[in-house]
Amino acid sequence: MTLRSVIRGSGSALPARAVSNAELATQIDTTDEWIVERTGIRNRYIAGEGETTATLATEAAQKALEAAGIAAADIDLIVLGTCSPDQTFPATATLVQHALGCRPGGIAFDVAAVCSGFLYGLATADALLRTGAAKRALVIGAETMSRLLDWEDRTTCVLFGDGAGAVVLEAVEVDAGDPRAPGILETRLHADGGQRDLLYMDGGPSTTGTVGKVRMKGREVFRHAVVNLASVLEEVLDAAGQTASDVDWVVPHQANARILDATARKLGLPPEKVVITVDRHANTSAASVPLAFDTAVRDGRIKPGDLVMFEAMGGGFTWGASLVRV
Ligand code: UT7
Repeated sequence: MTLRSVIRGSGSALPARAVSNAELATQIDTTDEWIVERTGIRNRYIAGEGETTATLATEAAQKALEAAGIAAADIDLIVLGTCSPDQTFPATATLVQHALGCRPGGIAFDVAAVCSGFLYGLATADALLRTGAAKRALVIGAETMSRLLDWEDRTTCVLFGDGAGAVVLEAVEVDAGDPRAPGILETRLHADGGQRDLLYMDGGPSTTGTVGKVRMKGREVFRHAVVNLASVLEEVLDAAGQTASDVDWVVPHQANARILDATARKLGLPPEKVVITVDRHANTSAASVPLAFDTAVRDGRIKPGDLVMFEAMGGGFTWGASLVRV
């Protein structure tokens, strides 16, 4: 027997207001055709008054707890990936812990790995669960990217949206010899700070004393994304002793439909195995993987027993992938 982190349930949340490409085109110099052709994005959700990263995260977490049939009081670890926290500190995870009514005293912290934040959070929670530091965890990706955008910069502002996704993980003893045993099988994370100028915020508490705005050299990010993602996917498959054809679903970071197509092609994965929600949600940074996962669980695509690959790449650069039997 071996201790594994098993996904017990998932949830997600979106702001009330949907914004189409056509609506954006009335405010900035862009077109629906350009956005759809270059990115696959048709719609995004934008947070309004009273909606913050913490409120979206809390709603997603509540739904994940309901799906798992686990009470907030039984959660002893919350790891939240975000680059758009409600405040510089305390960590948004602690706001969520309080809002959910979790017992005080558990572990709660944020991870800053931008679009890879959920993957970094999942790996961290998995490690803590397997050492026995905690028993039941919420791993959340939540963002209000709209508040970090330069709405005058059409090369970035059309790409992002707001939202949150969450999973409940539980440490469970499983039979390691059973190939159908559930849980997180293998995860690999990477970072390369040498590429930090390709995707970054042009401000921060310790430099400008401001939050700053998102800046990106899109074409170069695109090129790195396809190479890094294909390589980490192969690395995780090798580590788990699986091949691309064993995978039932790939749940990628939703940055650009063309990146998803190119990565799937490189690995020989049929496009119908790739969960795509970028058309509806745009790029929600750390929220995008759990949001896409929850969407595909709730619409019946991902079923118990499926082999699911999560993958993401973001500013830093940071990137990673995780293979999970759900
Ligand atoms: O989440 C982290 C990971 N992020 C990503 O993975 C993003 C990766 N990059 C991308 O998805 C793509 O590079 C973009 C969608 C950002 C851009 O697509 P592209 O095909 O690389 O276009 P480009 O940046 O080379 O721009 C092509 C043209 C330019 O015009 P000129 O110089 O050729 O005349 C831009 O000014 O498109 C123009 N353009 C726009 N036109 C209409 C840029 N943004 C827009 C816009 N509407 N919103």
